Amino acid sequence: MSTPAIVVDGVTVHYGDVLALDGASLTLERGRVCGLVGMNGSGKSTLFKTIVGMVRPDTGSVLIDGMSPARVRKTGAVGYVPQSEDVDWGFPLSVRDVVMTGRYGKMGLTRRPKPADHLAVDEALERVELSEYADRQIGQLSGGQKKRTFVARGIAQGATTLLLDEPFAGVDKRSEATITRLLRELASDGATILVSTHDLHALPSLADEAILLMRRVLMHGPPGEVLRPENLARAFGLDVMDRSETQ
Ligand SMILES: Nc1ncnc2c1ncn2[C@@H]1O[C@H](COP(=O)(O)OP(=O)(O)O)[C@@H](O)[C@H]1O
Ligand SMILES: [Mg+2]
Repeated sequence: MSTPAIVVDGVTVHYGDVLALDGASLTLERGRVCGLVGMNGSGKSTLFKTIVGMVRPDTGSVLIDGMSPARVRKTGAVGYVPQSEDVDWGFPLSVRDVVMTGRYGKMGLTRRPKPADHLAVDEALERVELSEYADRQIGQLSGGQKKRTFVARGIAQGATTLLLDEPFAGVDKRSEATITRLLRELASDGATILVSTHDLHALPSLADEAILLMRRVLMHGPPGEVLRPENLARAFGLDVMDRSETQ
């Protein structure tokens, strides 16, 4: 069997006294879209940050294509679309600038873009339908355009693993459709996609598989199974209520 795209093994993360992840384990194969579902505070963002190497686990390990997050970061193989709350939208960068940051790893120390870098940025912007907004400051975009900017960064980067933290939150219908279509296309080109979402209705058309997270992986399987009410009830902390009603 080929090396899995992502292996998270027994990862525990604390922020001070707060236990954010408690022995989370999962394996994702190449070319799949996996939906990550869990209530607020269940550790979704922490899981993404641990996979990209922004948060170091207390225990456990992460491998991407068999490599550590620190090593894979230098290759540009992992693209990350942060949740909106984690981005400083006042930072004076244009859409084009943000997408160009995806090329930094390929530029060497001078960080001077070459024609190939400009071409990759232009192509990525076209793919997310943002060419006409290239020179706009990122703070002056709609929610969906902001997300598409970061997806374009991952594309320009040539990422083969893409992590998207709530890309559909506060997003218009057109952006939602564009992002969904893009993720499906990227996966059929062989990319591995992990995407957190609260939009459970859209999950079956978005994802090949789904994970229920509650500090650890409660369930990992086909969307239809993961979305069964009794499973959702566990993930959203409702199973106690459920049981008392059936007594
Ligand atoms: N930087 C931080 N400092 C302290 N606590 C944090 C920090 N980031 C997240 N947490 C806490 O860790 C838990 C998991 O948060 P998070 O990973 O953001 O979950 P989710 O993305 O599912 O809402 C929550 O209890 C949250 O309050
Ligand atoms: Mg989050």
